[in-house]
Amino acid sequence: MNIAIFGYGKMGKEIEKILIERGHKVVERITSKSDKSAINTSNIDVVIEFSSPHAAAANIQFCIDHKLPIVIGTTGWYEQLDTLKQNCNANQSAMVYGTNFSIGVNIFFTINSALAKIMNANLGYTCTVKEVHHTEKKDAPSGTGITIAEDIIAEMDTYQKWENVNKSEISGPEVLSLASERLPDVPGTHIVSYENNIDRIDLIHTAKNRTGFALGSVLAAEWIKNKQGVFSIKEIMPELIKEII
Ligand SMILES: NC(=O)c1ccc[n+]([C@@H]2O[C@H](COP(=O)([O-])OP(=O)(O)OC[C@H]3O[C@@H](n4cnc5c(N)ncnc54)[C@H](OP(=O)(O)O)[C@@H]3O)[C@@H](O)[C@H]2O)c1
Repeated sequence: MNIAIFGYGKMGKEIEKILIERGHKVVERITSKSDKSAINTSNIDVVIEFSSPHAAAANIQFCIDHKLPIVIGTTGWYEQLDTLKQNCNANQSAMVYGTNFSIGVNIFFTINSALAKIMNANLGYTCTVKEVHHTEKKDAPSGTGITIAEDIIAEMDTYQKWENVNKSEISGPEVLSLASERLPDVPGTHIVSYENNIDRIDLIHTAKNRTGFALGSVLAAEWIKNKQGVFSIKEIMPELIKEII
């Protein structure tokens, strides 16, 4: 396939390596300095977008307008998700979006929901979520941290909402604490902890590098070619895993 990479930073470069390994061709590498009006859209099968929270929505709309299927890994733009979903469907275009394209993290999501369901039985555990990322990350908490927190809230009656607790303590027992830490060179670590007076259970995912996110986004690009509609990475991940095992 001919792929355009929108956002040629840490992730864009990692994605390019996987694309080449899997026999694809990179036809555009778009950064903040690029002129999108100069892009030859007829030469592109799929766009993979890993740019910046403030840039993603305009890039997604550009792809919808040109009916270019798009895989969106950028996080921190989701207040515009509903509008862009409507626009995508109205123009019969296609998009896959997700806070985390790594297969391992999607397995972690499944275990997280299952554990939260067990913990809903009033066992006296308090849950907390923590995410750690590199210091250049622009959004906090991470999109993945938010997905983890929302999945816990969906399963546990105790929690009604999450709060990012970096500056203050959580405001009540119905609030799930979601902490963020920024340290040099951390691709992404997520920790879910359940603690009571007796013991503590930790569920931890540690990304060793960016390969998992890049591979998942390339598998999603291969999957979305010639499709129409709006899909989350969570819903298509079971199919993507079949492609590589
Ligand atoms: N969903 C996932 O699995 C996953 C995994 C990892 C990261 N992410 C997310 O992916 C995004 C990118 O991460 P990164 O670590 O690669 O960031 P990065 O190293 O800072 O790279 C960002 C790239 O986007 C470019 N850019 C900025 N504005 C743009 C625009 N208007 N159009 C096109 N490109 C633009 C930048 O260009 P300049 O160099 O010219 O500024 C740079 O090349 C972040 O939102 C991050 O949270 C998601």
